Amino acid sequence: MERRNFLRASVIASVASLAVDAVRVSEARAAVKPLTPPTLSEADVAARLHKLRTRNQRACPPTKEVMTALQRIPNSVLLYDLDQVEQNYLTFLEAEPGVEVFYAVKCAPNPRILQRLAAAGSGFDIASRAELDLALATGVVPTKCIFSNTVKPVADIRYAFDHGVKSYVADSRHEVEKLAKHAPGTNLYVRISVDSKFASHPLGDKFGTTPEHAKELLLLGRKLGLKPYGTHFHVGTQCLYPQAWETPTAQAASIFRDMKKHGIDLQFFDIGGGYPTAFASSPNPPSVKQILDTVKTVLDRELPGQNVRLAVEPGRGIAGSSGTVSARVMLRADRASGEWLHLDAGIYQGLFDAVDHYVYEIATPGRSGAPVPFTLCGPTCDSFDTISKNQKLPGDLQEGDLLIFENAAAYSESCNTTFNGMPSPAVHYLDELLPI
Ligand SMILES: Cc1ncc(COP(=O)(O)O)c(C=O)c1O
Repeated sequence: MERRNFLRASVIASVASLAVDAVRVSEARAAVKPLTPPTLSEADVAARLHKLRTRNQRACPPTKEVMTALQRIPNSVLLYDLDQVEQNYLTFLEAEPGVEVFYAVKCAPNPRILQRLAAAGSGFDIASRAELDLALATGVVPTKCIFSNTVKPVADIRYAFDHGVKSYVADSRHEVEKLAKHAPGTNLYVRISVDSKFASHPLGDKFGTTPEHAKELLLLGRKLGLKPYGTHFHVGTQCLYPQAWETPTAQAASIFRDMKKHGIDLQFFDIGGGYPTAFASSPNPPSVKQILDTVKTVLDRELPGQNVRLAVEPGRGIAGSSGTVSARVMLRADRASGEWLHLDAGIYQGLFDAVDHYVYEIATPGRSGAPVPFTLCGPTCDSFDTISKNQKLPGDLQEGDLLIFENAAAYSESCNTTFNGMPSPAVHYLDELLPI
C-alpha cells in the first residue's frame, strides 16, 4: 500500500476504534448504578477492621492454602486480596477519622479493586481520562474524583469537566490558564515540590513548585475565574521517614495562612501518597498512623484551631500489601558471578519495584533448605531484568519450583509489559482462588 494510503487507512481505523470505544464507555456508564457511599462511624470502622484483621486467609504473607492453590497454576499469577484492599483503606480512617482518601488509580488500576474501594467510601486520584473512566465505572460520584496530574492534555481536562470532575491540580502558569479555559469555575489546588532528602523515589524535580510561586498560581487562578481550593505535595513513593512530611506540611500551611491575607480561605490540604509497605529491604516501615500523627502535629502548630480538609492519595499504601506475584524457576544456572535463578516473571512482568532496588520478601513453598545467595532475574533478553542480587533463599530450590513475591501488587498490573512476547502474570483474586 502506498505510504499516504496506509496513513489514511490507519487514521480512519483509529478514529473508528475511538468511536467504538466511546460508544462502549457510554453504554457501560449507562449501566452503572450510582453508589451511595457509606457513612462510617469510628465504631463501624473499628468493627469492620477487627473482622478483616482476624480473617483466616490472606495473600500476604500467603497462607498454606493460598500457597497450595498457587502451586496448582502452572504460570505466573498476580493474586489480589480484596479484603486487604479494604483493610488498608480503613486503616487510614482509623488513623485519622475524617481524613478523605483518594486512591491513586495508577498504582493498581484494577476494576475490582476500584469497586471495593468505592463501595467502602473511597474517592479516586486520577491522572488521565482512562483512569477517570475506570473510576466512574464504579458508580462513584465525579466530585469524589480529583485530577491530581499536574500536566493534563486539553482533551482530558475537557472530558473530566464534561463528566463533572470539580477539582484539578496545577504547578505551572500555563496549566492554570488551560484549566481556566477548559474547566472554568472549578477548584484549583497547587502542588509544591518536595526536597528529595528522605525520598526513596524522588518526585520533587519533575513536579511541584515553590510555595511563593504556588501562591501566585492561586491568585492567578482566582483572577481567571477558578476557585482557589488548596495545596498538594508528594514525598515520593515508599517513603520510610515520617519526618519527610514535616517540611512540606509546614510550607503548605504557610500558603493557607498567606492566602487568608488575600481574602482566600483554602480548604483542601492534600498530603499525597508515599505510605510504605514492607519489603525484605525495609521490613518495618512506619505505619500510616505514625505518618498522619506527624502531619497532625505540624498542622496543629502551624494552623491552630483551623479546620482543614485533610486528604491523602495512597496508591502503594492501599494496593501494595494486597497482592503477590508468583513465578516459577525456569533455570538454576551456575555462572561465574554465582548461582542464578531465571524466573518466568521479572521486572517486565510486574515485579517493577525491583527497579528501585526494593528487595521483595519471598515465600518458597515446599523448600526450606539452608539459605544460599542467588541472583534472581526475569525471563526477558534484557540484563536490566534483574530482580535482586545476593538474595538468600533455600539452597534446595530447583527448576519448576514456585517463588511467591509478597507485597507486590503496587505498580505491578499498571507497569507490566509483553516485552519479548513474554506474557504478563494472570490476574486472580483470593475469593475465587480459594472460596472462603
Ligand atoms: C499525584 C500522585 N498521587 C499519588 C500517588 C501515589 O503514590 P504512592 O503509590 O506512593 O502512594 C502518585 C504516584 O506517583 C502520584 O503521582
